[in-house]
Amino acid sequence: MIVVPNPLIAGNWKMNMLRADAEQFLINLHEVLEPRADGNADAWLAPPATLLSLLSERARGMSCLRVGAQNSHWLDSGAHTGELSPLMLKEAGAEFVILGHSERRQFYGESSQGVSRRLRGVIDAGLQAIVCVGETREQYEAKESEVAVREQLLESLSSAGPSDIPSIIIAYEPVWAIGTGLSATPEYAQDMHTKIRAILSGSSLGSNGEKLSILYGGSASPANAQELLRQSEIDGFLLGGASLKADSFAQIINIARGLR
Ligand code: PGA
Repeated sequence: MIVVPNPLIAGNWKMNMLRADAEQFLINLHEVLEPRADGNADAWLAPPATLLSLLSERARGMSCLRVGAQNSHWLDSGAHTGELSPLMLKEAGAEFVILGHSERRQFYGESSQGVSRRLRGVIDAGLQAIVCVGETREQYEAKESEVAVREQLLESLSSAGPSDIPSIIIAYEPVWAIGTGLSATPEYAQDMHTKIRAILSGSSLGSNGEKLSILYGGSASPANAQELLRQSEIDGFLLGGASLKADSFAQIINIARGLR
């Protein structure tokens, strides 16, 4: 079982990076990121599946790095053209899987019910899951953020029980903040994380659910990392854009290390 570090800085490369870009990224990261004395891996990266094997091989030489996938099917195998199973991802070196990212929900019709099925498959394969939730701009403007996030959380986690707690991390990502340069304020993020913890304790995970790590995602950057991470309820980040450059990724990791 993976020990989830606090703070945890996870990066999602989305549909970016070819092999040569990834090789260069790792050379740069190796130069700027100190290894951790305690051997705890606090830098997690989810490359496109085509780069999983490469990154996981390289990660063996970097004790602070873990590699994961951006999505997973729930079944181990079957007639599902274009899909990847948890066992395939694990064999390619993934140790964690991002589930329910808003881009999957928005552009590929993934429902919270589907996320819940995927979650079960991922946990049963022995992988760590990062389950994403977050309100849209319309919901935010209509002051329906808490209602929307509650619904997503309860449904997305419905296949999990108290014994699955060590395998789950939550990422709160307001959709209006993703890739827009418009991050949530530290106070708003802190407030939503507090609400999420309360919702988790009333979920299928039971009262210990509120002990889960909750990452923030949405235009987190070296410029705002410190004030966001200073919030007691923010346990780290799920980064998009800032994880594509070794410099900004390492800068944020170093800021996080300096705070705890
Ligand atoms: P961003 O993306 O950091 O580029 O806003 C966050 C995410 O999609 O997880």
